[in-house]
Amino acid sequence: MTYIFMSIENSFDNERSDAGLTVREMEIDDLAGVFHLGELLFTSDLYPYIYRTWDEWEVIGSYNTEPDYCLVAEVDEQLAGFILGTIISKGTLVYGYITWLGVSPSFQRRGIADQLVDRLVERLINDGARFMMADTDPENAPAVKFFDRKGFHDARRHIFLSMDLSQHEYYGKLIAYEREKADRKVWKRPRLRPTPKT
Ligand SMILES: CC(C)(COP(=O)(O)OP(=O)(O)OC[C@H]1O[C@@H](n2cnc3c(N)ncnc32)[C@H](O)[C@@H]1OP(=O)(O)O)[C@@H](O)C(=O)NCCC(=O)NCCS
Repeated sequence: MTYIFMSIENSFDNERSDAGLTVREMEIDDLAGVFHLGELLFTSDLYPYIYRTWDEWEVIGSYNTEPDYCLVAEVDEQLAGFILGTIISKGTLVYGYITWLGVSPSFQRRGIADQLVDRLVERLINDGARFMMADTDPENAPAVKFFDRKGFHDARRHIFLSMDLSQHEYYGKLIAYEREKADRKVWKRPRLRPTPKT
């Protein structure tokens, strides 16, 4: 499994307006909707690594630690998409990073991701970011095309590896130990207390 990382350096689109579309900060009532939209988008068959790393803590954690970089898009008060970002300071460099981006299938190809990225990037620039990063599965053609069109270039492959721990030696030992323990366990009928004689 390989991932590609992309970056953009100070080339941002101007504001794009779309009738009926609102981009705003994520609120407490949006958390479940955002999580479930992610579940719908990041499926194990299409993007196994994204699928494994998406859980409710991604949403709760971002909202808890970096609410300024959690935005949602609404169309006619319906959740249409979300973006979760972060800022990383390393020495004198400050990077913005798109951790998660998703648009509901019924609202795709309407410029919603475009708006979400623009609004996040503006916030990150205000907070000192001068370099922007994003990553996705190289098989994710819509996202690769989206980021490329948005100005993210210098794509680099990053290899993700996995290991089946049910084949691990320690796991085998643990199972054997638990089996042995179960075999040794003898069920004992609870003793009845003798009734005190009066
Ligand atoms: C990638 C994604 C966020 C794009 O959202 P979107 O709101 O549909 O994107 P936009 O409408 O702003 O698209 C802007 C441009 O991106 C490219 N693009 C977007 N979706 C595309 C698709 N399915 N196929 C080809 N190009 C696509 C196009 O160049 C498009 O411009 P155009 O419509 O004028 O041709 C959306 O497809 C999605 O949620 N995918 C699943 C989740 C995901 O992969 N997230 C990213 C990694 S975490």
